[in-house]
Amino acid sequence: MAGQKRITSWVQTEIGTDEEWERAYKAFETPEEEIAKFKKRLISLGAADWPRDADVVELFCGRGNGLVVLEECGFTSVEGVDLSKALLKEYSGNAKLYAGDCRTLQFQDMSKDIVLVQGGLHHLPILPEDLEKVLLEVQRILKPGGRFIFVEPWQTPFLAAVHYACSISVLTSCWPKLKALHDMIEGEKETYFRWLGQKKMVVAMLDKYFLQEKKDARFGKLFYIGVSR
Ligand SMILES: C[S@@+](CC[C@H](N)C(=O)[O-])C[C@H]1O[C@@H](n2cnc3c(N)ncnc32)[C@H](O)[C@@H]1O
Repeated sequence: MAGQKRITSWVQTEIGTDEEWERAYKAFETPEEEIAKFKKRLISLGAADWPRDADVVELFCGRGNGLVVLEECGFTSVEGVDLSKALLKEYSGNAKLYAGDCRTLQFQDMSKDIVLVQGGLHHLPILPEDLEKVLLEVQRILKPGGRFIFVEPWQTPFLAAVHYACSISVLTSCWPKLKALHDMIEGEKETYFRWLGQKKMVVAMLDKYFLQEKKDARFGKLFYIGVSR
C-alpha cells in the first residue's frame, strides 16, 4: 500500500478515526480540491518566502495532502504526524510519516523550522490542557526563530451562517458538499464546538508561548503565524 513502509509508529496500537467522520471528510473534498485549497492557503501564509531546505513538519496531517503541496512547492525536508495510520496510508510521496499523538511528539528539541497545522487543534478532547500540551511540544521542537503556523475553524459571522445552512435539511439534501460538512461537524461536534467556544483562552495561550506575526480571522477560519518566545 502507498506510503505504508515509511510510517514510523510512535503508538502501540493502531488508532483510526471514526468511520462515519472519515466518510464525510472524504466526501467534503476530493484530494485534488484539497490540494488546490492547501496550495492557495500556503501561498497566502507566505510559503513562497520560506527557505526550501527548511525542516517542516505538519502535525495532524491526516491523509497528507498538505505534505503533497509542500513537496510540490519544492520543500525538501517534510514530515507529517497523525494519530490515524489508516489516513497516513493514503499518502504517497517522499515525506516521512509518523503515526503518533501530537500531544507527545518524539522529535528532538529545536529540530524544526516550521510546524504547520491545518485543522487539527479543534480535535483535541480536553481544553485547555491538551492545547497547552501541543503548544509546549511545538515550542520545544522549534528551532530559535522557527514558526508555528496554523489554520483552524474560528467562530465568525460567516461560520455562524454556514452552521445555519447546515441545519436546513432541504439545503443539505440538494447540496452534497453541505451535507458532507454537516456530517463531518456532527462527527466531531463535541471537540469542534468546545474549540469554537474558547476563543479567548486559545488566544491567551498562543500569546503565552508565541510572538504573534499574523492572526487573521476570515471565512470561519483563523490563520495564525507565531514565533517561539
Ligand atoms: C480534520 S483532520 C485534518 C487533516 C488534515 N490536516 C487536513 O486538513 O486534511 C484532523 C486530523 O487530526 C488527527 N488527530 C486527531 N487527534 C490527534 C492527535 N492527538 N494527534 C495526532 N493526530 C490527531 C485525526 O486523525 C485527523 O486526521
